[in-house]
Amino acid sequence: MQLIKSINSVKKQIRKAKKTGKSIGLVPTMGYFHEGHLSLIRKAVKECDVVVISIFVNPAQFGPGEDYLRYPRELSRDLHLAEEESVNIVFAPSAKSMYPNGYQAYVNVEKMSKVLCGISRPSHFRGVVSVVAKLFNIIEPDIAYFGGKDAQQAIIVDRMVKDLNMNVKLKVLPIIREKDGLAMSSRNTYLNKMDRKNAANLYKSLKGAKRLINSGTRDTNRIIHTMRKMIKSVPHAQIDYISVVDAKGLKPVKRLKGKILIALAVYFGKTRLIDNIIVRL
Ligand code: PAJ
Repeated sequence: MQLIKSINSVKKQIRKAKKTGKSIGLVPTMGYFHEGHLSLIRKAVKECDVVVISIFVNPAQFGPGEDYLRYPRELSRDLHLAEEESVNIVFAPSAKSMYPNGYQAYVNVEKMSKVLCGISRPSHFRGVVSVVAKLFNIIEPDIAYFGGKDAQQAIIVDRMVKDLNMNVKLKVLPIIREKDGLAMSSRNTYLNKMDRKNAANLYKSLKGAKRLINSGTRDTNRIIHTMRKMIKSVPHAQIDYISVVDAKGLKPVKRLKGKILIALAVYFGKTRLIDNIIVRL
């Protein structure tokens, strides 16, 4: 496995591999791997000849006062895990090389970046899609792998790929959870013991929504109301949003029909956790 920090060097390596007809898989990450990341990596290794994992804590997607500086980083552990999964290249550029002085070009998927997480994180998705566009230009992957955990992110990246005619196929894989149902996330390490235990309630509320739907409920307000009550039953949980939207355009729906995304963001103290389920009706 190679660790490459320079943009030009990684481009050279990819060009060589492409000349011999090899397929390229990319898993974009911010590192601090857990089983969620590893599930994407394993799938990429299974499906592609050359697998590139990018590890880059992208400053452009963190707002003022957010956790850019304290976001957990542990490159040596990540490298070890990537090596064990037979990854070919870890691309870990510096912030300075990705955003040199004078940098100005950003990609923005307009409407869909303004809803759900975009309300409390107004420049987040602009940062995400810009860095993903840069990574696609640098690595030119045949397939890029994303997790369903960040459902809005995957939907917005898909829109960008379509709108900008990018030559990459996206694959979105299922959410990997802890034993008690909490979606795995690098940010879970911020939680104290009590909040960590109570955070399992988020998935419970999503399962509660699923139960309501399975028993015939189609009214969005009723679902949101039940979820809100469940989440608020534990101390410290501050709801940012609970939304029921169509899973393609992220528009709110009043009555459930088609492919629906039920998504939530909840703060425990300063830690903001997200989770979701997709239901098809
Ligand atoms: P990061 O949070 O490191 O996540 C990298 C990828 O892992 C994303 O596609 C995310 O959806 C997926 N992932 C995270 N937790 C998961 C879980 N529990 N189950 C399944 N997949 C999971 O998402 C980002 O980084 C960044 O925004 C990035 C796309 C790299 C752009 O900077």
